[in-house]
Amino acid sequence: MTYWSNEWNCHPRDEQLLDDARFWVRILKEHAMFIQLGLPADEPELIQEAQSFVDRFQMLQNALDTVDVIEPELLQELQQAVMEIIDFKRRILRRLVQCQLGGNLFPLLIDHITREAVRFLNLLMANGQHPMASFQLLAEEESFWLRIMKEHLEFVSHLLDPSERTLIKEAEDLETEVAQLQETARDLASMSQSGPETFPSLTRFTEEVLLTVMKVRDFKADAYEMLLLCQILSIIPSPLLLDHVRREADKALEEIGRLLDHVSM
Ligand SMILES: [Fe+2]
Ligand SMILES: [Fe+2]
Repeated sequence: MTYWSNEWNCHPRDEQLLDDARFWVRILKEHAMFIQLGLPADEPELIQEAQSFVDRFQMLQNALDTVDVIEPELLQELQQAVMEIIDFKRRILRRLVQCQLGGNLFPLLIDHITREAVRFLNLLMANGQHPMASFQLLAEEESFWLRIMKEHLEFVSHLLDPSERTLIKEAEDLETEVAQLQETARDLASMSQSGPETFPSLTRFTEEVLLTVMKVRDFKADAYEMLLLCQILSIIPSPLLLDHVRREADKALEEIGRLLDHVSM
């Protein structure tokens, strides 16, 4: 049986948590920026609240840059900030589904970034202790990330100008491919509850997932470059959104790859 531990992990546990925290704190800061950009002008209080989260996560990002290990006090500050931004996102989503908030925020985008924040909170609550690496965990992680990747492609295709037919088609084709993989990941996660000792088809499937996520990553990276050069017509609020989702694709590749190594040992 393989466990996550200092001995097998290429990163000691503390270092892994610090890496994860640096990644997610920047992501959560950008979520607050995206919310701020999408809120209607007649909601100055929400806009101000979004700005205060940008400032707060920027401060946490600075703090994480200067430490080698996350001390309990900083851990608690992180947990508190993440809990509060989850609450903020849920308040916005509640108003969106009740049709009581205008602006340019897709409800699914708010739901999506809430799930990402909950993932980070769970990690902080576990204090970097990863659950046992297993086939089930691998398939569940793949399912989580594939859903995220699928939604990124949906957001991009909905934000592109209707005249960008080639790019929209490219995003939609990739989305179909990712959606199919996500269904399979859910099936395999369910099957792995039977506790198999070996699961070669999951390994083969995971290789396929990694290849597809690389394609998604490259699509985002290319679109980011084109946006910077003003070569794409869209209502994407900032090129930063494309860089943000590209970084999440790289994180997915890293996490799935690491779990695959562990179950293959
Ligand atoms: Fe995100
Ligand atoms: Fe995302």
